[in-house]
Amino acid sequence: MSTTPHLDKPLFSAEEIRTRVHVLADAIARDYGADEILAVSILKGSFVFTADLIRALAAHQVHPLVDFMTLSSYGSSSMSSGKVLLHQELSLPVKGHRVLLIDDILDTGLTLQTACQLLIQKGAREVRTCVLLDKPSRRVVPITADYTGFQVENVFVVGYGLDYNNRYRHLPGLATLKFEVAPGAT
Ligand code: XMP
Repeated sequence: MSTTPHLDKPLFSAEEIRTRVHVLADAIARDYGADEILAVSILKGSFVFTADLIRALAAHQVHPLVDFMTLSSYGSSSMSSGKVLLHQELSLPVKGHRVLLIDDILDTGLTLQTACQLLIQKGAREVRTCVLLDKPSRRVVPITADYTGFQVENVFVVGYGLDYNNRYRHLPGLATLKFEVAPGAT
């Protein structure tokens, strides 16, 4: 069956996101105090969120080390494959660090759970999690984020770094994507 995705409804504006990112940074800065943070950003979807979050943290005199890992559970579609693949490893040592794991969206929970396990295996002293979006209704593993931007319904979200087939990442706000069956499709 062929479907044509198109932008549906705006969810959160750039201004709403900016305000929320600063609230998250405030909470993180208070919780960590003077302790050094190793921020680990899960690519690709969280690159915009991470860039804004670390600069919001800098406004609180918090300057994390930053590293990236690439994990995927979605392939190129809007359906989770249920299998999480590691495509790119971290470049910094993790042992003994307090890690703040950053992801764009907590959906089934498999990606965040896998990433947490990897970081613990590598000797992280602690792993806390920070997600821009949370879709609690989709969870298949019991995991909650320590810091959450917004909760959303079971909708497919794009913009602010989140994509569909690598498109829409440039949008300054977040919007839902609608999948419509093309006329005449079977
Ligand atoms: P899991 O299911 O492992 O999924 O928690 C987390 C990853 O799935 C992607 N994802 C989305 N990407 N809009 C997106 O652009 C969405 O609505 C969406 N839901 C899940 C995302 O890469 C996330 O890191």
